[in-house]
Amino acid sequence: MILSIPDVLTPAEVAHARELLDTADWTDGKLTAGYQAAKVKDNLQLAATHPVARELGGQIVRALTENPLFMAAALPLHFLPPMFNRYSGGQQFGTHVDGAIRLIPGTGHRIRTDLSCTLFFAEPDEYDGGELVIEDAYGAKSVKLPAGHMVLYPATSLHHVTPVTRGARVCSFFWLQSLIRDDQRRSMLFDMDMAIQRLAVDMPDHSSVVQLTGVYNNLIRQWAEM
Ligand code: NI
Repeated sequence: MILSIPDVLTPAEVAHARELLDTADWTDGKLTAGYQAAKVKDNLQLAATHPVARELGGQIVRALTENPLFMAAALPLHFLPPMFNRYSGGQQFGTHVDGAIRLIPGTGHRIRTDLSCTLFFAEPDEYDGGELVIEDAYGAKSVKLPAGHMVLYPATSLHHVTPVTRGARVCSFFWLQSLIRDDQRRSMLFDMDMAIQRLAVDMPDHSSVVQLTGVYNNLIRQWAEM
């Protein structure tokens, strides 16, 4: 499932973040890439341990844990601290797949990357190119969202970022381990959650609301890994 999550951050939060990001000391993105990705990666990056990344990353994770749409779709267990990237002057990131296991910086703790997240900090009209193209079972989907919005997609997918030929594309990117490893199971739980919520609004006293909520929770009991 590829899902856009609107308004993760407010316009004021995005503006504050841009002030910090536009003056930060960026480093070469190849430094954190694996062997295959390093060959096709050309961008600038702020590591998760950079003070600006720490401040904004904490804000992003807090905002997401209070976002009902995100929580329903991701069913998160562990977050990797958000990193940030910047593409300009023709920079791009060729087709790659994200590494399956990543170490949380400064800890011995490793997480499995089930879901990838990209949160946009530049408006689409600030730059040309810079589409995130994600390939899933139904073909390729091109994503370029307003500032403050985020796309959530399976970390199992091949993806690339097209060359930025004007302006600068500034994003945060990070991964999370979900309670539900399998994308298809997670998608079915999300659909069921949304359907139950609609039913609970339209027919709040119907006994099926309780029964279906029970089935939803029992499926999570069957499938959750923690
Ligand atoms: Ni990637």
